Amino acid sequence: MNFTNMDIISMKDFSRDMIDHILNVAEELEPVARGEKRSNIFSNVLLSLLFFEPSTRTRMSFESAIIRGGGNVLNLGSLEASSISKGETLADTIRVVEGYADAIVLRHPKEGAARMAAEYSSVPIINAGDGAGQHPTQTLLDLYTIKRESVLDGVKIAIAGDLKYGRTAHSLCYALSLYGAEINLVSPDSLQMPEEIVNDLRGQNINVYQTSVMEEVIEDIDVLYATRIQKERFPDVTEYEKVAASLKITPGLLDKAKIDLKVMHPLPRVNEIDASIDNTNHACYFKQSFYGVPVRMALLSLVMGRLK
Ligand code: NCD
Repeated sequence: MNFTNMDIISMKDFSRDMIDHILNVAEELEPVARGEKRSNIFSNVLLSLLFFEPSTRTRMSFESAIIRGGGNVLNLGSLEASSISKGETLADTIRVVEGYADAIVLRHPKEGAARMAAEYSSVPIINAGDGAGQHPTQTLLDLYTIKRESVLDGVKIAIAGDLKYGRTAHSLCYALSLYGAEINLVSPDSLQMPEEIVNDLRGQNINVYQTSVMEEVIEDIDVLYATRIQKERFPDVTEYEKVAASLKITPGLLDKAKIDLKVMHPLPRVNEIDASIDNTNHACYFKQSFYGVPVRMALLSLVMGRLK
């Protein structure tokens, strides 16, 4: 298996063996990610962060991963202060930045932007979210979280919320299809998972159940993966307002769940999870956001050829 110089664009590009390898390397690197062990795995590595959409966890966990491993980051900073505001194209920005860094982490509002960037770049492109498309590094940390906190093989999961625009949900479904998961998709009717993805899953013999009622699935699942309604992607904000408050996870709902049910969320949450759940054994979302560090450290060390 050779990840050196690989562009990380879509979960569809990964086999189960590749994912398992990344998760194993992440486990080995966890002490470095926690700051308990020193490492120079990224000595001389310069990672460029190009974020054309807001980010807290993805950007900062990439930074944390690189800096803890002895490397450095080069941040585009605010769009207003860069030449993007003068009308520079993404293709031009990429061809400039590839000369400044060893890899580029890109978040962009347009679906397909990362794939396009990879065509222009001689250094690896890592897709940190392309519009409503995919978010593969989030999925790798989600899988790591499920592996560490529950059981990944054959997991019974409900993915809830905005399945139409939610890129984390799209990537996660593709990856879970490699692990024989039983996938329950819970969303308002207007925000269902794109048909193409549901068909791809069924084509892989994955059991997919679609509903708008959380109570129908809550008793049976091991993991509840909540997602935010992606307000910024709604063409019409009144459509957003109609569905914004649906599917809130409350203690009353979790009373019906398995005792070891894990509640995950890529964050940021808005209204999806009642704060009273934060201190229960169900809550997994803050651990999940930490796991972004070892997983991104593992991915970068493989892509940069620092580990095999
Ligand atoms: C997600 C994203 O940007 O897609 N955030 C993240 O990376 N953890 C989820 C979201 O914005 O709702």
